[in-house]
Amino acid sequence: MSWNFEELSKAVKEESKKIKDVQEAESFRVKYLGRKGLIAQMYVSLGSVSQEEKPLVGKNINALKNKIMALIEEKHDELKLKVEQETKEEIDVTLPGAATEVGHKHLLTQTIDEICDIFERLGFTVQEGPEIETEFNNFTALNIPIDHPSRDGFDTFYLNKKDPDEEDTHLLLRSHTSPGQIRIMKKYEPPLAVIIPGKVYRPDAVDASHSFMFHQIEGLLVDKDVKFSDLKGILTFFCKRLFGESIEMRFRPHFFPFTEPSAEVDIFWKEGKKDWLEIMGCGMVHPNVFEAAGYPKGKYVGLAFGLGVERIAMLKYGIRDIRIFYENDNRFLNQF
Ligand code: DAH
Repeated sequence: MSWNFEELSKAVKEESKKIKDVQEAESFRVKYLGRKGLIAQMYVSLGSVSQEEKPLVGKNINALKNKIMALIEEKHDELKLKVEQETKEEIDVTLPGAATEVGHKHLLTQTIDEICDIFERLGFTVQEGPEIETEFNNFTALNIPIDHPSRDGFDTFYLNKKDPDEEDTHLLLRSHTSPGQIRIMKKYEPPLAVIIPGKVYRPDAVDASHSFMFHQIEGLLVDKDVKFSDLKGILTFFCKRLFGESIEMRFRPHFFPFTEPSAEVDIFWKEGKKDWLEIMGCGMVHPNVFEAAGYPKGKYVGLAFGLGVERIAMLKYGIRDIRIFYENDNRFLNQF
């Protein structure tokens, strides 16, 4: 058997040029290099080639095989490039980009910041307490014993988990920010002036003015010589800063178990239904509260106050329904 290797070499080269895709390249490979392909057949036939011719023919078969392999490899590179080019994403540099919207603070956060700023200017420090509290801090330490009727007004959601420090009492979601007072006093010695903002929880049915969760800001100032006039001065300054110099306000006697004497602060609202509106509770820290916090008897005097953030924001911005704060509706939020 004799082959014209020169012709064959030219023929395979021509044939390979016509290969258009991967399948055709594979058929080409099988045809020449496959188990029953031309090269394999050539090796089989080599047996019948004369002894003298054998080395040269063998050499030619090898050369042809290498040539075919090189052609296939070349083709694969070519096809790969073609596929890459075809599937490459066209970038249209003239298309306008997708703008990311810059958000802003929620109105309640803005109000908290604004209130904290005013008190910080007076020398108060902002501190935060946990939303999960002990029954002791939320009630007992604040002079609200277990059987006290005023506990009803502050009652809250209880957790299944027991307080690890006190037998038979359960942890709860704080119903006011006042337990923050106890935490601060247990940690620091007077003189101290702190502001404690945060979420509080009560099992209230939700309506236009009630929510099971809302925000409060607590204030506490303890020193050796603090008077009720200091409390009046601080809260008057605060109301004028927040609502404007011409705001009319009054301190109305009230009862809170953790302060004595206690008062509620009303402001006179001139828009819509003209009336006195209650905006916060305040008073002089009750001696029992100092005792529960571990301060020596009679050593310190203090003033405290607590206000509802939603209430203030509703008044200031003319919002009539508390629920709108929590609905995440941008049509509302973007106005502020
Ligand atoms: N904790 C009270 C409430 O939730 C508010 C309050 C009243 C806080 C008087 C005070 C205070 O610190 O002195 O209604």
